[in-house]
Amino acid sequence: MTMSAEIKVRRQSSRKRSRDRRISHLTPARKRTSASGRQCPDNTGQIDDPEDLFGDYDSIVSDSSFLAKLDRVGQNMRQHDIDHTTSSRCPVILLAGNPDFTSLKSSTDNCPKQSCDDSMTESFLEGFTDDAFLDMPSSQLAFLQDPQTADRNCCTDEDKTSMPMRHPEKSVSTEERNERHIAPKARKSVSDHLKRAMMANAATPSSVSRTAVQKEAVVTEEISVAMQAMESVSMATTDLGPFFGLPTKVKELICNLKGIKDLYEWQKTCLNLDSVQQRRNLIYSLPTSGGKTLVAEILILKELLCRKKDALFILPYVSLVQEKVRGLASFGLELDFMVEEYAGSKGRFPPVKGRGKRSLYIATIEKAHGLVNSLIETNRLDNVGLVVVDELHMLGDGSRGAIIEMTLAKVLYISKSTQIIGMSATLGNLQDIQKFLKAESYTNDFRPVELKEYVKLKDSIYEVDPKEEECFRFSRVLNFKYSSAMQKIDQDHIVALVTEVIPSQSCLVFCPTKKNCENVAGMICKYLKEDFIQHKQAEKAVLLGELRSSGNGCLCPVLKKTVPYGLAYHHSGLTSEERKLVEEAYSAGVLCLLTCTSTLAAGINLPARRVILRSPYVAADFLKRSQYKQMVGRAGRAGIDTHGESILILQDKDKVLKLVSAPMEICKSNLMHSDGKGVLSLILSVIGLNITNSLEQIRDFMSGTLLSVQEKQVCLERSLWEVTQECVELLKEKGELLSNSPELVLISFLLPYKEIVHSNPFKSLDLTYCDLLYRDLSKGLESLMLNSFLHLIYLVTPYDMVSQCKPDWMVYFRQFTLLSAAEQKMCAAVGVSESFVARKAAGQNVKKNVDQVVVSRLYLALVLQSLLKETDLWSVADRFQLSRGLIQTLLSSSSVFCSCVLHFTEELEEFWPFKALLTELTRRLTYCVQAELIPLMEVAGVMERRAKQLYNAGYKTLAHLANADPNVLAKTVENLFKKQANQIVASAKMLLNEKADALQEEMDDLLMMPLDLLSL
Ligand SMILES: Nc1ncnc2c1ncn2[C@@H]1O[C@H](COP(=O)(O)OP(=O)(O)OP(=O)(O)O)[C@@H](O)[C@H]1O
Ligand SMILES: [Mg+2]
Repeated sequence: MTMSAEIKVRRQSSRKRSRDRRISHLTPARKRTSASGRQCPDNTGQIDDPEDLFGDYDSIVSDSSFLAKLDRVGQNMRQHDIDHTTSSRCPVILLAGNPDFTSLKSSTDNCPKQSCDDSMTESFLEGFTDDAFLDMPSSQLAFLQDPQTADRNCCTDEDKTSMPMRHPEKSVSTEERNERHIAPKARKSVSDHLKRAMMANAATPSSVSRTAVQKEAVVTEEISVAMQAMESVSMATTDLGPFFGLPTKVKELICNLKGIKDLYEWQKTCLNLDSVQQRRNLIYSLPTSGGKTLVAEILILKELLCRKKDALFILPYVSLVQEKVRGLASFGLELDFMVEEYAGSKGRFPPVKGRGKRSLYIATIEKAHGLVNSLIETNRLDNVGLVVVDELHMLGDGSRGAIIEMTLAKVLYISKSTQIIGMSATLGNLQDIQKFLKAESYTNDFRPVELKEYVKLKDSIYEVDPKEEECFRFSRVLNFKYSSAMQKIDQDHIVALVTEVIPSQSCLVFCPTKKNCENVAGMICKYLKEDFIQHKQAEKAVLLGELRSSGNGCLCPVLKKTVPYGLAYHHSGLTSEERKLVEEAYSAGVLCLLTCTSTLAAGINLPARRVILRSPYVAADFLKRSQYKQMVGRAGRAGIDTHGESILILQDKDKVLKLVSAPMEICKSNLMHSDGKGVLSLILSVIGLNITNSLEQIRDFMSGTLLSVQEKQVCLERSLWEVTQECVELLKEKGELLSNSPELVLISFLLPYKEIVHSNPFKSLDLTYCDLLYRDLSKGLESLMLNSFLHLIYLVTPYDMVSQCKPDWMVYFRQFTLLSAAEQKMCAAVGVSESFVARKAAGQNVKKNVDQVVVSRLYLALVLQSLLKETDLWSVADRFQLSRGLIQTLLSSSSVFCSCVLHFTEELEEFWPFKALLTELTRRLTYCVQAELIPLMEVAGVMERRAKQLYNAGYKTLAHLANADPNVLAKTVENLFKKQANQIVASAKMLLNEKADALQEEMDDLLMMPLDLLSL
């Protein structure tokens, strides 16, 4: 094989359907629409994001239900034709989930009224027809029809009033009106109707107020000035427009929606940097809570509005992505761009083309990789003008770091015009990363609230001061009066430390393990005075009620005890609903103290007046300097506290010197992680995506990685070039690349890998799973047992959940004996016999060579089977002695993995029998909730409990939410704050737009004349 040998990917058509076919018109929505419904549990796993370990594909169900709606509409239309009626409903109502044309009232009956003083709401509501109000919850209608409200808020003069919806009559073109009177035989297809109505909608003059029109004109003018300025930018230019090159409206929105009136000085400086203005890559590094996000958001807006390019914002956790989607959806609606969520099971590959609208993709690390792959594949990466990576130091974080590196290396290699911006608080080796990203850097020490770091040793408190010889300066003696019994139980004086701040101020106590969080919370409560119970008693009672209803009547015994005192624990053992409730209550001051694991430091923005680190360990590992910095960085709430303080509890001073004073750890490439699997899958991926065609090009590509920059530090035994060659050899062996041929030909066996590599971001690192999956499925073909779901469930139980759970043998045995004879036979066939489990349960040593992965995976399959049967998280958690958080994570990972397996089987002809089975199983796993809640749970951040509340209040569909008045929503739905209501409505509108766009794209595809038609 010569170095310049061409590498060709031969797609064998007999075994694999072409990529084009995969997005065929026959099943486009199924392929492209995001799976949703089941809310992704926020991820607080130690390192990885279990939610995203396998997360990927698009919903089959949500789309098939959508198609079903279309069918129903079609039927209704046919019925109309028969009846010779002349209904003229605006088809946007299709999206409102109300296909019943005949039942709708005339638009004039229910002209929606709207508060004129809520300009945000006003403009949110533009663009929706009032048809959607026809089955709005009565509360909304009562509000809308309330004459007083109407008088107060709604003017009849359309010139003065901004009406939220267009009149259907107005939205109907003359052509359409004529058509309606034409003989009913001239029936149009559903898509024709849709298209006509959408085009009519688009052409309809919107009844916005003159001021709104004027405002719009100002915005347009400002954007065009800014665009011109950007085009003629010179090195000396710093002032590009009224607000860093953006319209003043952006400044107003930042003020209204974020409450930020002015930018910090460093933010202004950073935004005016030459590198920023000339769109060079940039890494900026500031302490925690320095306000880094806002700068990134302004740059994103500039990209979307002025350069009219898409932007990708990469965040490390699902919860952060959801929070950002909720927060930026309002900006999108006001400034006319799409905000698309790529987290958990949400996100389309490739994304829908925005029909002129720019898109902001907000993605987790794994989803961002999948997204970039799909954009490369469709030659659309150039549309992404900006990639922003938050917490850039995660480049050094195991397999997730490798995924960031692969994503950025691909962007750098393929789209030279795409700007990359990274931010971090804890980068030790900025220069390496700068070299990798060909970026400039900006650093500043700014912190809005001063942070004072202390350590506690015995009963003395020392301030951390690197200037001191020993790094510590004596500050005070802790004042406490402990009984001897209390001294024994609370040796670290945590009660004394926390009661100095709570309940009037907030406190976070970081604990090394999950169990310790619960114990410490319980222990503190034991010694708190009764006064604590009286503080915000009513609000705490409400919180308890909500926690109970989130658990369908079950309440965690620890929270039951601690919440009345204003305390709670927070870790991944809580369900995502519980976690969200706890976070909200803490942010609102209802809870004053959280005991938490280290993941809270990275996951969410929950600052505290005082942060206590119970010990310098995370589980059994000594804290890293960057972890320590992240944790203490939570101290000090901007705008509330004058300063924040952290206290690290120590038994021994010496060991921590490096913790408080050493430089930050350096961030190393992880492509060599797990024996170089990263390099292997990166090579496979760049071959599969046709990024590289020869060994020479592979070498060239690899020279653009962080691994190449750090070759001497990371590749200790062999050079990167040797590693690269070895990997290609290995792939040749594995994939039977024809080594004798002058060409490297990747034959079909590798295709599943390839598919997985670029369709499923979570597989991108572990090729061994592909092997396993292939073998498991092949075995399944020989002996699939179908008289119960167990065998299928086993096949889609994610491999890497296995390490997160050890079987309880007694429980295993009990469950095993409850299985039917056929199920037991199936278990034996996969390698787990009853006698093996029985012996384990009896505590005997088993000499037989049994595959532990299979045993544990079957155990998880049993958990999933129980969950599918009962849908009650709590009772299943109880039966299997697992935390409900873990069970929830298992369920959501399995649903996503199931859709991956489905995709895998679709790619390989031999697995065709699995298709129907896995389609149904994906649906069952994804929607292990009541079906009617699914559309509501698609909205970012709406979880089961909130969805139930909304549903019960009459908001039954996405359209109900999108058309709701946030004021009324907040009034009618219990414990829903106005800000949350605003965000829910904005996110629902955004999602509705997204769905309409997808439909439009599908329709455009459908109606496009085949290019080869004329030559026929
Ligand atoms: N100019 C400003 N004025 C007032 N508050 C601001 C300003 N800029 C940002 N903030 C607020 O400061 C808080 C912290 O900002 P942000 O989350 O961006 O910090 P960060 O630098 O990303 O920190 P971390 O490293 O912890 O993620 C946020 O609540 C944000 O709204
Ligand atoms: Mg941040």
